[in-house]
Amino acid sequence: MASTRILFLFSLMFSFFMASSFASNFQQEFDITWGDGRAQFLNNGELLTLSLDKTSGSGFKSKNQYLFGKIDMQLKLVPGNSAGTVTAYYLSSLGSTHDEIDFEFLGNLSGDPYILHTNVFTQGKGNREQQFYLWFDPTADFHSYSILWNPQHILFSVDGTPIREFKNLESRGIAYPKDQPMRIYSSLWNADDWATRGGLVKTDWSKAPFVASYKNFNSQACIWSSSGSSSCSSSSNNSNNTSWLKEGLDSTGQQRMKRVQSKYMIYNYCSDTKRFSQGLPPECTLT
Ligand SMILES: *[C@@H]1O[C@H](CO)[C@@H](O)[C@H](O)[C@H]1NC(C)=O
Repeated sequence: MASTRILFLFSLMFSFFMASSFASNFQQEFDITWGDGRAQFLNNGELLTLSLDKTSGSGFKSKNQYLFGKIDMQLKLVPGNSAGTVTAYYLSSLGSTHDEIDFEFLGNLSGDPYILHTNVFTQGKGNREQQFYLWFDPTADFHSYSILWNPQHILFSVDGTPIREFKNLESRGIAYPKDQPMRIYSSLWNADDWATRGGLVKTDWSKAPFVASYKNFNSQACIWSSSGSSSCSSSSNNSNNTSWLKEGLDSTGQQRMKRVQSKYMIYNYCSDTKRFSQGLPPECTLT
């Protein structure tokens, strides 16, 4: 009798422990915002899929608002002929002077490379595009795309390799996102007027529905509450570890980033002297 009860207690405790130490559940962290059933939670919330057809795309957003964070997500992008489709995955605040940190994946014909498009908006102003090819097929498997956003810098990483850094240069008069809490957003939509080869290749609707998948969301972040306070923690086990708030880019990291940029970067606003004929944005000439 007693031993069964103890066993039962143990299994209860064990399942509780399991639940709290597993990677977070999408249903707990995100709300589906649009798409009329085209966005779905699967496998008990371990997987989320977005889909796009001729009628509509779909999207989701985080329940939480964050004021700084280290946010990882694994994505598997629309396979096959994905030309014309865009999968956007970004952080954004609200309003006309919003801040935004963007990953956008521009689809392509089968076998042709996706473009990873990135941008940073501060106080409503963007125009800071950098684009990359990836060193793997982002549709064959899940890969992780991370944003580290702390008071010193914003770092974009792909599978742990830093690809782009936006430094806090407030002391030099350049706005930096640090006052406006942001949510995570993602959407899959049709952008065949510009996405693939500048709009030349249109979406082939006979291939619809187009599907992108998400798993293993992990955040160490300061969660903002409407009372104006912010509590910093992590959704993983070491919930008091806030070393990410001070995490920089060491010289090895710098070198890895430079190498990736020289091999895979296909557009850099900081090199576009034609576009910025009146002078490059100030952050391009500092550092
Ligand atoms: C699609 O493939 C073409 C041809 O290789 C390439 O020029 C282009 O950058 C690729 N990506 C997009 C999104 O257009």
